[in-house]
Amino acid sequence: MQAWPPSPYRPGNGIDPPYLGDREEQIEAVRAFLKDARNPRNVLITGLRGVGKTVLLNHLQGEAEGLGWLVIDREFSEPDAEPLAFANALLTDVNRALRRLSLSTRLKERAANLLQAAIEVVGALTVSYGEFKVSVDTKRRRPGPHRRLDDDLKEALTHIGELCKKSEYRGLVLRYDEFHVIRERPGSPTLSALLSATSAVQQHGLPLMLMLCGLPPVVDNLARSKSYSERMFTTLVLGNLRPPEDRAALVDPATRLGRRFGDEVVDEVMIDSGGYPFFIQVYGDALWNGSHGETIQIADLPRSTRGSSGRDTFARRLTSASSCATWRRSAKARRSSSCSRRLAGATTRSSRRSAP
Ligand SMILES: Nc1ncnc2c1ncn2[C@@H]1O[C@H](COP(=O)(O)OP(=O)(O)OP(=O)(O)O)[C@@H](O)[C@H]1O
Ligand SMILES: [Mg+2]
Repeated sequence: MQAWPPSPYRPGNGIDPPYLGDREEQIEAVRAFLKDARNPRNVLITGLRGVGKTVLLNHLQGEAEGLGWLVIDREFSEPDAEPLAFANALLTDVNRALRRLSLSTRLKERAANLLQAAIEVVGALTVSYGEFKVSVDTKRRRPGPHRRLDDDLKEALTHIGELCKKSEYRGLVLRYDEFHVIRERPGSPTLSALLSATSAVQQHGLPLMLMLCGLPPVVDNLARSKSYSERMFTTLVLGNLRPPEDRAALVDPATRLGRRFGDEVVDEVMIDSGGYPFFIQVYGDALWNGSHGETIQIADLPRSTRGSSGRDTFARRLTSASSCATWRRSAKARRSSSCSRRLAGATTRSSRRSAP
C-alpha cells in the first residue's frame, strides 16, 4: 500500500488553506488600493462564520507587507468593547507602530527630530473616560485636562502618517479581526473616535488604511457610530466558494501531491458542503486520511466515516459543526442539502454495509 504524505487540508480557524478558492477578485481590488498610498482606502471584510474572512485578511496583510506597508494587527474579543480597554488597545497599537518606525534607518538618518517629537507626543497620550484614564506611558503623562480618544488618536496617527512618508514604509495599516465585538456606547467615543481620527488623517493625504473584519453586525455597528462610515469603506462580503473554484479547493491540493478525486465524489462533496470553505477542508481531510488509493472514489466517502479513527474525526467534526451555533447561523448561506443529514445517511449506509 502506498504511503501518502500527510493531509494537505486545513480545517480550522484562520488557517491558510492549501488552495485559496474564489478570492482573486477581492485580492485584486485591495492590491490596487495598496499600490496607491496617496489615496488611502479602507476595507471591511464581512460574512458568516467559517466563510474564510480571517484567511483572506491574513492574505491581504501579506500583500500589504509585500508592498511595503507597516501592518499592526490585532484580534479583538468581547472585553475589548469596554471603552477603556478599546482606548488602551488603540493607544498600544499606535505605540507599536511607532516602535517599528523608530527602527527605520532612513528615519533615523533623515528625520530624527520628527521621530523624537512623535515619541514624546505618543508617549504622553492619556485618554480619560470620566474618572478613569489610560496612558501609553504613565511616566510621560501630559499635564492638564485629559482628552478624548478621538483627539489623541488623530494627533498620534497624524505623526505616524508623516513619519511613514519619510521612512521606507508606504504607510500604516491597522488590521483588526473579530471587530464586530466593538460597539459604541453612548457618551464614550470608541468606534466613532477611530473613524473620525482615520478620516481626518486620510483627508490630509496621509497614508493610513483600516482593514477591518468581522461578522455581519460590524456593518451596523460602524454605521451607527458614524453615518459616513458607509462611504469610508469598501466592503467585501464573503460567501461560499462558487463553481468551479469550490471544486478546485478540494481537488487541487490532492493533485499536487499525486492523488486525484473521482468526479462522483467531488459532486457529492460539493452538494454536501454547498461550497462552504470550512466543510471543503473537513471533507478533504477526512477523505485523504480515510482512503488509500491514488484515486479517491465515491466508495471512500462512507468508508472514511466508518469504524476507523478517520470516522471518529469526521463524525465528531461534522456533528459538532452542525450542532453549533455557527452552523445554524450559516445554514441560510448553504444549499438545502445538509451535511449532517448526509453524515447520518453515510453512517447508516456504512453500518448497514458492515453488518454481517
Ligand atoms: N478561500 C478559501 N478556499 C478554501 N478554503 C478556505 C478558504 N477560506 C477559508 N478556508 C478554510 O475555511 C476555514 C475557515 O476559515 P476562516 O477561519 O478564515 O473563516 P472565518 O470567516 O474567519 O470564520 P470566523 O467567522 O469563525 O472567524 C479554514 O479551515 C480555512 O482553511
Ligand atoms: Mg475569523
